[in-house]
Amino acid sequence: MAIIDLQNVTVSFDNQHVLHSVNFAMKSGEFVYLVGQTGAGKSSLLRLIYVDLQPHEGRVSVAGFDAHRIKSREIPKLRRKLGVVFQDFKLLPDRDVYENVAFALYVTSTPRSEIKKKVLMALGDVGLSHKRNQMPHELSGGEQQRVVIARALVNSPSLLLADEPTGNLDPASSAEIIELLRTINVRGTAVLMATHNYELVRRYPARIVQLKDGKLLEVELRERK
Ligand SMILES: Nc1ncnc2c1ncn2[C@@H]1O[C@H](COP(=O)(O)OP(=O)(O)O)[C@@H](O)[C@H]1O
Ligand SMILES: [Mg+2]
Repeated sequence: MAIIDLQNVTVSFDNQHVLHSVNFAMKSGEFVYLVGQTGAGKSSLLRLIYVDLQPHEGRVSVAGFDAHRIKSREIPKLRRKLGVVFQDFKLLPDRDVYENVAFALYVTSTPRSEIKKKVLMALGDVGLSHKRNQMPHELSGGEQQRVVIARALVNSPSLLLADEPTGNLDPASSAEIIELLRTINVRGTAVLMATHNYELVRRYPARIVQLKDGKLLEVELRERK
């Protein structure tokens, strides 16, 4: 079953096509890299998927929701099925690790005891249970990104979107983040990761799609000798 289905999607800014009649389908549980140069439209494509941007033409369907027809009160319901991770960590600087992960659950009607269970589970998944009372500035960049991933996982999403999640990290932390995303994927969450870190893509092979001149192409990974 497709978790993402984009059909003939066109997005333009200032009369310039960023995406031009793009087709893209991703299956439940799949891991896909989205590559392309800066300005190629990777972030715009991800924004379409979490319904932060509407296409000018074409159809976007995500986790059974049709982005064109979705009512604004249904958007939070869709977003709970998605986890989103950005390059800049976007943690709340004045709250500790636990509160940063719990934050998204306070706005739902989840009971406190349930919130605690979910937060500790998500922090365990990213290996940071022991840092739950630290403040974001006390953590390394890689650890901060793992908190963001825990926050994205706390609702047990069926799809995780990551927009250049290793963009601000050193190679060792980047490898840790990608290994974590791969583990999350093996457990059943579909992952779509925008990146231009080709070194990582080579080391951790998966399906690759590339945005170029407004088009989306499948890329075959050539073996390096
Ligand atoms: N809100 C916006 N308004 C105007 N232009 C935009 C907007 N968002 C993105 N763009 C333009 O669209 C192109 C693609 O941007 P983006 O999706 O951020 O690419 P990428 O993530 O691959 O770097 C860029 O040329 C960018 O300047
Ligand atoms: Mg981008």
